[in-house]
Amino acid sequence: MRGSLSSSRLLIVDDEWANVHLLERFFREQGFTNLQTTTDSREALPLFRQFRPDIVLLDLLMPYVDGFSIMVQIGRELMADDYVPILVLTADITNVTKQRALSSGAKDFLTKPVDLTEVLLRVRNLLQTRFLHLEVRQHSEELEQKVWERTRELEETKLEVLERLAIAGEYRDHDTGEHTRRVGNLAAAIAASANAPPGVVRLIHRAAPLHDIGKIGIPDHILRKAGQLRPDEREIMKTHTTIGGKILSGGRHALLQTAKSIALTHHERWDGTGYPAGLAATDIPFEGRVVALADTFDALTQERPYKQAWSADDAIHEILSQSGTQFDPDLVRAFMQLSGNTDLIALSRMVESPTSMALL
Ligand SMILES: [Fe+2]
Repeated sequence: MRGSLSSSRLLIVDDEWANVHLLERFFREQGFTNLQTTTDSREALPLFRQFRPDIVLLDLLMPYVDGFSIMVQIGRELMADDYVPILVLTADITNVTKQRALSSGAKDFLTKPVDLTEVLLRVRNLLQTRFLHLEVRQHSEELEQKVWERTRELEETKLEVLERLAIAGEYRDHDTGEHTRRVGNLAAAIAASANAPPGVVRLIHRAAPLHDIGKIGIPDHILRKAGQLRPDEREIMKTHTTIGGKILSGGRHALLQTAKSIALTHHERWDGTGYPAGLAATDIPFEGRVVALADTFDALTQERPYKQAWSADDAIHEILSQSGTQFDPDLVRAFMQLSGNTDLIALSRMVESPTSMALL
């Protein structure tokens, strides 16, 4: 229980000074020290706002503002899960009045002239209910906070594991996890520039780094071959798409499903001459078309043992020339728009802290 009942804040509103005086003196004798009273009903609401009482003892029939109106005004001040009991003290305790008071927000009634022992009993009961209510509310807020923190931890762990998996996949190929992250950043920016919904952009951002995870299954002598691949080796190399698809298949979460789709389709071409399935145009999933573009831009602008890094302008030019053959023309347009007002290489290198990760 929060504090003792006697430290509770009591607000007494009654237009008859004698009643107010009697109640105030009685509650002080009972050890209650936090009391505010008024005989002017117009002051009831300002006092309520300023004092934030734990309970209100309220007369019904008063000049200016009656008790019913005060209850309605107080009701507007409270949040949906607040519980501030109002004990009505009235000479008129007919059924009609009771019903009206109840529907206005009263929690209990006592008939005037009041029996002080009974007032004390009712006030204690109502205060106990209020404090139990506050305790339950605080407990549920703490629980909610804990659940939220755990959920966030779990989401972050999941994202981190996927990030590590992407890095592991790339380790044998380029020795760092930089390429996977750059492709994630670029793909998300292209998707956003193509007006994809924010949820889809976030999924692509997290899933795109896993596009080459299937390279885990490609033998070293092919993956790390310095010279040109023979046709049979190239065929084996192409299977990194289907291997990736298998590794990521069966996931229940949208993130894994998107990652699987990207792994499988990021080497498909708009004109249908890509691999592994030879899908064309919009038969290629959106996320696959987006990553195809991001992956190509990043590959062109990076240095490899067998080639120099291209400038961003040259790479953009190359992508433009492949619009409608290798790439989706709409996405190339979105990419051009993006490249017009963004430094794509800087954008791709952006690093986020794990705590800034959006929950998927
Ligand atoms: Fe690939």
